[in-house]
Amino acid sequence: MWSLLATITIVGAGAVGGLIPLIKTRLPAKLTGKDLCKRGTPAGDVPIPESLGIVSGCVFVGLATLLSCFMEQHQASMRWGIASIAAMIALGFWDDLHDLRWRHKLLFPPLATIPVLLHYSGVTAVVIPKPVRGLIAESSPLHDILSLIFDVSKHGEIIDLGIIYYVYMGMMAVFCTNAINIYAGINGLEAGQSFVIGLAVVLQNLIQIVRGHDGDQYHYFSLVLMIPFLATTFGLLIHNWYPSKVFVGDTFCYYAGMTFAVAGILGHFSKTLLLFFAPQILNFLYSIPQLFRFVPCPRHRLPKFNPATGNLEPSTVAPDSIKSNMTMLNLFLVIFGPMPEKRLLQLLLAFQAFCCALAFGVRYGLSSLFYDT
Ligand code: UD1
Ligand code: MG
Repeated sequence: MWSLLATITIVGAGAVGGLIPLIKTRLPAKLTGKDLCKRGTPAGDVPIPESLGIVSGCVFVGLATLLSCFMEQHQASMRWGIASIAAMIALGFWDDLHDLRWRHKLLFPPLATIPVLLHYSGVTAVVIPKPVRGLIAESSPLHDILSLIFDVSKHGEIIDLGIIYYVYMGMMAVFCTNAINIYAGINGLEAGQSFVIGLAVVLQNLIQIVRGHDGDQYHYFSLVLMIPFLATTFGLLIHNWYPSKVFVGDTFCYYAGMTFAVAGILGHFSKTLLLFFAPQILNFLYSIPQLFRFVPCPRHRLPKFNPATGNLEPSTVAPDSIKSNMTMLNLFLVIFGPMPEKRLLQLLLAFQAFCCALAFGVRYGLSSLFYDT
């Protein structure tokens, strides 16, 4: 299997890298976008082919399906997971074609998770962190209240969430897909962040397999899912890296988020996965006032390009406002000052890598304080 995975990596990256130049000229004319961070320069007037995530997505699904034929365990998980990912590719491409409204977009991830949720037959119980257990143990009043809805163990170590666990899994899919899509706007960021998170997931799975963790067949499953994802994302990133020859589209953001959600849910490491998503969580929390319209939210919140200096500057919530759009991209520009697009990309990806490293520290350093590891 290891040599097959190595072959798939090379084939996946090569196929996507080779196919994109051929397919980008054949997409519908409406699937193009202006490079907004180059407005005011000749590069800003050239229409860039959009939604090339459709190429990496299709190659990824094809290779993952092929790999599933060689799996001895978790073959069904892999295939139901692929069904959810394929559904998200189709819905994402539809969104790119028709530029749907936010309330409609929010329906897509729960719809696409249905295959995974129907298949999921694993535990719906969660292990409670040690410091909280006393609060929900048999002697506490909270125990009686929670016991009306859930199955709570005597000493508060475990709560069986039952149907609520399915809601949690659906919410993971909604979060992962949208969180990547709104942490975007400069060349290479959508594919770049997904590549770094993907590397962290692969590392996490390898560590668990090497340690001989009792659930290592789950980690093996998510490793087999993640390898073709990483390879095809790399093929896409080559063309999407600064200066972008193609844009990835919502197609990519959606299926990338769904792939992480499937790997995290069916691989049983959703809490560690959320640690890897720290930049996306920060970006989402900071965005809430604009997402819920307490503060005006323009169609695009990406930074503003200053052709005179060649630097990106924080964009504002309205043309006459001094308040900057509430995204991590603009926050970095507020903190570190205006800088070129490529520099901001490198800084944000370095921050992603730093957060993943920190996540490993928390997972392997601090988790014994909270759980019996
Ligand atoms: C999300 C963000 C929006 C951001 C956009 C950019 C929220 C609520 N929405 O919207 O603020 O402006 O992503 O991706 O936070 N583009 C570039 N350079 C890039 C990537 C994209 O200029 O490197 C522009 C292109 O014009 C491209 C367009 O963004 O056509 C794609 O935007 P789209 O994915 O449709 O935006 P949303 O996902 O709806
Ligand atoms: Mg988008």
